[in-house]
Amino acid sequence: MIRFEQVTKRYPDGTTAVDDLSFEVSEGELVTLVGPSGCGKTTTMMMVNRLIEPTSGRILVGGEDIAAVDPVRLRRRIGYVIQQVGLFPHRTVLDNTATVPTLVGWKRAKARARAAELLDLVGLDPKTFGSRYPDQLSGGQRQRVGVARALAADPPVLLMDEPFGAVDPVVREQLQDEFLRMQAAVRKTVLLVTHDIEEAVRLGDRIAVYGQGRIEQFDTPGAVLGSPATPYVAEFVGADRGLKRLSVTQIEPADLEQPPVARVDEPAGRAADRLRADGARWAVVLDAGGDLHGWVGVGELGAGGTVGELAHRMSSWVPVGAPLKQAFGVMLQHDAGWVAVPDGARFLGVLTPAKLHEALRRSVDADARGVPRDQVAFDSVADA
Ligand SMILES: Nc1ncnc2c1ncn2[C@@H]1O[C@H](COP(=O)(O)OP(=O)(O)OP(=O)(O)O)[C@@H](O)[C@H]1O
Ligand SMILES: [Mg+2]
Repeated sequence: MIRFEQVTKRYPDGTTAVDDLSFEVSEGELVTLVGPSGCGKTTTMMMVNRLIEPTSGRILVGGEDIAAVDPVRLRRRIGYVIQQVGLFPHRTVLDNTATVPTLVGWKRAKARARAAELLDLVGLDPKTFGSRYPDQLSGGQRQRVGVARALAADPPVLLMDEPFGAVDPVVREQLQDEFLRMQAAVRKTVLLVTHDIEEAVRLGDRIAVYGQGRIEQFDTPGAVLGSPATPYVAEFVGADRGLKRLSVTQIEPADLEQPPVARVDEPAGRAADRLRADGARWAVVLDAGGDLHGWVGVGELGAGGTVGELAHRMSSWVPVGAPLKQAFGVMLQHDAGWVAVPDGARFLGVLTPAKLHEALRRSVDADARGVPRDQVAFDSVADA
C-alpha cells in the first residue's frame, strides 16, 4: 500500500535526513517508526503526503507513484495526525474534526454529522465536547480530537506523528488501547511515529527501528526484541527487553498448569477428603460443563453442603490470548500466586509465576530461532 524505493532526502544545508530508504507497508498494516530525535521519522512521514519532496527515489501509494499525483488529491486519501496535535484554537472541537471533509467540499451538515460520529468513535461525546474549544480539553482529549480529525474523510492511509506524545503514561496507555480497538474495526494502513520503543512494540504489526536516516531493522515486535539485527538496535530496545516482551507475548494453553479442581455440586466433605489426600490447600471450582465457577480453600470445606455453596468468586483471571503482562498485573493487584485462565467461560488452567517465567523464556528462544513458541521445550532453554 505504501512503498519506499531508495528514497533519500537531503536538505539544502547538506543535512541528510533520510538516506536510501526502502520498505513496504501492506494494506491494513500498522507500522511504527521508532528512533531517537532527529533520525528522520517526521521527514519520512511528510514525504508520503508530499509536504516534503524526496531528493531522489520514489514513493508509491496504492501502486501509484505519488510524484505524479496532485498533492491535494493525494492528501484526501491520507489522514494526518501531526506532531503536537495542532488543533485550530479558534475553532470548536466539532469544526476542528470536520476540517478535512469541509476542505474537500462536503456540505456543512454532512461534514458535521461525520465529525460527530468520529468524536463518538474516539470516546468523546459530541454533545458535551463538540462545542468546546481546544483549550477547554485535557491533553488526552485533544489527542483524541487529533485522531478523529485525521479519520474524518475516511482515508485508507493514516499518518500519525507521535499521536499520543503529549500525555502522561496512564492516559497514553488508555489512548493506545482505544486506538488498537478502533484500528481492529477500521483497518487503515498506518504509519505511526514514536520515539518510545514500548509504544512501538505495543501498537505495531511491524516496527521500523531508525538509526540516523536509515532503518536498522524492520520486523515484527517479537523479532526486534528477540533478535536485534545490530548492536545499535539492541542498545535501543534496551536492557529491559524481557519486560517489554511481557506485553507482546500471549498466554497459550501450553503455558498453563492444571490445579486441583472441585465441582460445584460435589458434597463439601467428600471434596475436602479428596483434596487433602492430594495435599491440596485450595481448588478451582468448575460447574458441570467445565466452566469456571470460582475457587475454594480446602479448610473452608466443612461436612455439610456442596462445594458450590462455599466457593468464592474468582477475581484473579485473564482470558487465554491476553498478554503475559496482563496476567502479571492481575497477580500483583490481587497478591495472588496464580491466575485462572479461561477461554470464554471454559476453564483451561492456571498461570503461575514459574509458568509465566517459562513462557517468557520460551518466547525469547523461539524468536531467536525463528520458530513458534510451542516448538520450544522449556528444558531446551539455556540459562540466560
Ligand atoms: N528544513 C530543514 N532543513 C535542514 N534540516 C532539516 C530540516 N527539517 C529537518 N531537518 C533535519 O533533518 C533531520 C530529521 O528531522 P526529522 O524532523 O525527520 O526528525 P524526527 O526523527 O522526526 O525527530 P523528532 O523525534 O525530534 O521529531 C534532523 O536532523 C533535522 O534537524
Ligand atoms: Mg518528528
